[in-house]
Amino acid sequence: MARETAHAIDVLVVGAGMYVCGKGVEGFGTILPALFEAHRLGLVGRIAIAATSGDSARHAAGKAAELAAVLGVEPVVRCYPESGNDAEAYVAALADLSRPCAAIVSVPDHLHFGITSRLIEQGVHVLVVKPLVATVAETKTLVDLADRHGVYGAVEFHKRFDEANLKLYGLLRQGALGELLNFRIQFSQRKIIPTTIFRGWVEHTNVFQYLGVHYVDLIHFLTNAVPLRVMAVGMKKYLAGQGIDTYDTIQTLIEWREVAGNTFLSSHLTGWIDPDTSSAMSDQRLEVVGTLGRYQSDQKSRGVTLTTDGAGVVEINPYFSQLYPGLDGTSTMQGYGPRSIMQFCRDVADIVSQHKKAADLAGLRATFRSSLPVAQVLEASAASLAAENVWVGV
Ligand SMILES: NC(=O)c1ccc[n+]([C@@H]2O[C@H](COP(=O)([O-])OP(=O)(O)OC[C@H]3O[C@@H](n4cnc5c(N)ncnc54)[C@H](O)[C@@H]3O)[C@@H](O)[C@H]2O)c1
Repeated sequence: MARETAHAIDVLVVGAGMYVCGKGVEGFGTILPALFEAHRLGLVGRIAIAATSGDSARHAAGKAAELAAVLGVEPVVRCYPESGNDAEAYVAALADLSRPCAAIVSVPDHLHFGITSRLIEQGVHVLVVKPLVATVAETKTLVDLADRHGVYGAVEFHKRFDEANLKLYGLLRQGALGELLNFRIQFSQRKIIPTTIFRGWVEHTNVFQYLGVHYVDLIHFLTNAVPLRVMAVGMKKYLAGQGIDTYDTIQTLIEWREVAGNTFLSSHLTGWIDPDTSSAMSDQRLEVVGTLGRYQSDQKSRGVTLTTDGAGVVEINPYFSQLYPGLDGTSTMQGYGPRSIMQFCRDVADIVSQHKKAADLAGLRATFRSSLPVAQVLEASAASLAAENVWVGV
């Protein structure tokens, strides 16, 4: 059902990989299904997907057609380029959309800055998959650019929308854990990510920048604290043996300070060499210790296990991004992943219909500005890795 107060906006997706439409893995990814759900609500009009090759564009178009049948919604979806290779197909794709419009950037990390800058200069509201960018200077440039062009810039940090984390947010606001002492985070994924899916660009990032960054943003969101100093130690064994020059695991320690002055520590063990036979793509745990209590959240084992002859044991996260039966025989895509993307679509629709101002959006949302402390940590962590694991001040 369409919302009467909002305009349906056209949306450009830059990138056509795993996260956009499930390329290289089972299913449909997260971004495209979320946009179909936003279309169902009347928030999104036409969808353009820009890849870098005709083959990749055709793959995305195939996924979109399958998705239309599964979800029972049929937005107009056009994929670019039609043939050959073109790293700037997104420019032509944008020209075909009605203005004002929005874009979702989901390309390898090191390309976020250039593509996002060009979109902002075109007056497009932008959602960028995490990490926004890896340096403080680039973050500041994007914040200034978005302000100057009056566009809304957000980062797709969907863990802010996970109820298990929102519960913690509420408890911390009430002071239920007392003074914060320690966060302990463990987050790892399967070997297929660095060795196959990201093989073309894996050496442009590292596992802390890819996975650890989720919880850096989450801690800043939960506590409003700022990072003071960072120390990181990496291990190179398995991937180096495969000819891939990147760390298997990185352990990072961050000291934070809350607005009222209390300091606390977070430790992050991130890795991407879990066996491909592990029972879930992501293995993740969060523990918070304060002077009055402890919060433990197993973010992998959410209580749903499927065991079959064909696939062995699979632990399903029913809350991230899943298809569920709809009312009329088709399905709906639900979870905190789609919710975060649909919130961006709703915000842009409200900005376009002048119900909200881009400059006023904050709160649950990860804005470009809220990615400044995140970039500070990424930069300090990289500096510590490069300088024999010394503490690096922010
Ligand atoms: N938030 C999350 O949970 C999550 C999950 C996975 C990936 N990501 C992030 O999403 C981004 C992409 O990840 P992915 O998993 O889709 O990776 P991927 O390697 O599967 O896909 C990246 C895609 O970008 C395309 N691309 C490169 N340059 C382009 C250009 N100039 N124009 C259009 N397309 C271009 C590539 O052709 C490829 O299809 C990364 O920044 C990654 O960190 C986020």
